[in-house]
Amino acid sequence: MASTEGDKKSSESKFEGSLNHAMIDGPEGRTAQEYANHFGEPGFDDITKVYISQRYAGYTEENQQSWRTLYDRQMVYLATHASSVYLSGARAINLVRDHIPYLEGSKSVNHFLEKLTGWQSRAVPGYLPAKAFFACLARREFPTTVVIRPKESLDYLPEPDIFHDIFGHVPLHADPIFADFLQTYGKAALLTDDPYHTERLARLFWFTVEFGLIREAGEIKLYGSGLISSPGESLHALTSDKVDRRPFDLETVCNTSFEIDHYQPILYVLESFEQLRDAMNSYANRLIEDAKRAPAHA
Ligand SMILES: [Fe+2]
Repeated sequence: MASTEGDKKSSESKFEGSLNHAMIDGPEGRTAQEYANHFGEPGFDDITKVYISQRYAGYTEENQQSWRTLYDRQMVYLATHASSVYLSGARAINLVRDHIPYLEGSKSVNHFLEKLTGWQSRAVPGYLPAKAFFACLARREFPTTVVIRPKESLDYLPEPDIFHDIFGHVPLHADPIFADFLQTYGKAALLTDDPYHTERLARLFWFTVEFGLIREAGEIKLYGSGLISSPGESLHALTSDKVDRRPFDLETVCNTSFEIDHYQPILYVLESFEQLRDAMNSYANRLIEDAKRAPAHA
């Protein structure tokens, strides 16, 4: 799920989009979304209540064909342009072209992820408010959209779907270093209510988890889910002379604003995922120290 400031603003438009919401409408989805909307208020502290079942039988043959088309279209490009960590993760979770991924059971991505890093993908009915989203990450659980874009919108969809969330995000969750980074991110983001840090953390998520690049064996490769799951922007990110590809630096990233409605003109390049994990750890420690000091200022 793309949890960004822009996404959060779109949370009210869930039922106006082009997705077929038949699979997530109904009492289970409505109850879970209502709980998510109140998460953090008194009596709303069990994040597992925002999860729903995948209801796999709801996918139509057209949905399955959309998955295969998207997979075929993008995997050929990614084979030579995605991070090796993404590609090995995709193999490790048994991400295949033949069918939309299962979230439950012995053939599910979760079955494989459990043994690798303990991360799990959990179906949710729609956008989660920020604190609910962070609470999931802090538990090594990834809120996952289960619906898939309609065939008329294969190239572009303004909201996440299962192709973005599973194909784009989840292979990296099989990597122990990225797995630790993402959980630390969730814990750190839960810790602060300071708008200054909340904005900085949103930027960090955007320029890494969603739109990150990484240098491997001297070549720049893709790993951000927004690039991985977008045929148009993945090519643009690597080849356009309009993209400013900057070396990753936590402070610089946190001070860089972003816009969501066009191809990104600025991208940040990691040297390794250890660099990202270590930078996140130092930021989290800073927030922990701030939290300890906060009562003294109250
Ligand atoms: Fe995303």
